[in-house]
Amino acid sequence: KKVVLAYSGGLDTSVIVQWLKDTYQCEIVTFTADLGQGEEVEPARAKAEAMGVKEIYIEDLREEFVRDFVFPMFRANTIYEGEYLLGTSIARPLIAKRLIEIANETGADAISHGATGKGNDQVRFELGAYALKPGVKVIAPWREWDLTSRETLMAYAKERNIPIDFNKAGKKSPYSMDANLLHISYEGGVLEDTWTEHEEDMWRWSVSPENAPDVPTYLELTYERGDIVAINGVTMSPATVLETLNKIGGANGIGRLDIVENRYVGMKSRGCYETPGGTIMLKAHRAIESITLDREVAHLKDELMPRYASLVYNGYWWSPERAMLQTMIDESQAPVNGVVRLKLYKGNVIVVGRKSDNSLFDTRISTFEDDGGAYDQKDAEGFIKLNALRMRIAANNGRKLLK
Ligand code: ARG
Ligand code: SIN
Repeated sequence: KKVVLAYSGGLDTSVIVQWLKDTYQCEIVTFTADLGQGEEVEPARAKAEAMGVKEIYIEDLREEFVRDFVFPMFRANTIYEGEYLLGTSIARPLIAKRLIEIANETGADAISHGATGKGNDQVRFELGAYALKPGVKVIAPWREWDLTSRETLMAYAKERNIPIDFNKAGKKSPYSMDANLLHISYEGGVLEDTWTEHEEDMWRWSVSPENAPDVPTYLELTYERGDIVAINGVTMSPATVLETLNKIGGANGIGRLDIVENRYVGMKSRGCYETPGGTIMLKAHRAIESITLDREVAHLKDELMPRYASLVYNGYWWSPERAMLQTMIDESQAPVNGVVRLKLYKGNVIVVGRKSDNSLFDTRISTFEDDGGAYDQKDAEGFIKLNALRMRIAANNGRKLLK
């Protein structure tokens, strides 16, 4: 019996290591990933070793995360419920994939994670795991044990000599947080009252818009097939692009969000999110698509986007329907090349320019000046009349539209 655990090195997952040993007498493999959460991952090694773990995986997945998960999602202009940029949701399928690959490498038959039985994350980890390894066993300690409070968890840790910095754990952030290169999230604590304003000192990545610089920052983003490949003319890897945009965006007070969202399990939940780079990317991607995409292609993408967003939110990344939508979205991005120019100012992302060799914007046709016959205005008369035909027939038939 062997289980691969998604191990952060924090209190909860450290307790899980011990609890798995006590409860299942199994061998444990820990997996810790650097997804750009901004915390060292190496310390997880010593902690796992101290608890007798023999197989320890620590990996830097930042490039894979942005290249194969964040960027594909942004090609679809994805937002959940009109607001949420899915920072946590999009990281889970990558973790699920690595858990299963490591299980296969080490001959483990089970995986385990520290997500609670109330949330979305359990669904995302487990749907991914089952899709990639149908017979895998899943152990979700939060759904099994009786360590239901911070106090009981700490007491268990103390009793089992789990190497935890108790001072640090004691004055830990009052929020349930999750961070990666795309965002940092805050839930719980004072946020559980939907009327209580979030505290200013909760935010870790951004200045408040009122404290942002009084002069705007200009930015040029170069796109290839719908992905950013350069910032201000400097070519960068996907992870470096996002890291750079996070810094510039955070310094200009961009990307703060305070929402109540619908979890897949059925409950509403209040969350605060900081997504500076993602907020810039969404705006800029729409700007480059605005000149490079055919109208009907763009509109069809927009109709399907909420479906795609729900698939990501609800944990269906590794599903045939997400793969199908992705193929379509990626196909649409062939002409999405060019440059977007932005002005960042006190929490705002303002598009000021866009250009592309694939631009469908034709000044000869759309000009308000003399177009020299490029567009015949007389054509519009029949266009409008035929579009009105059914309404004229109905009106002639005495159909009433107004009461
Ligand atoms: N509510 C967000 C989501 O479902 C964030 C979840 C944060 N997860 C966490 N383990 N703190 O995507
Ligand atoms: C959790 O319950 O583990 C975090 C919140 C969520 O998954 O939605």
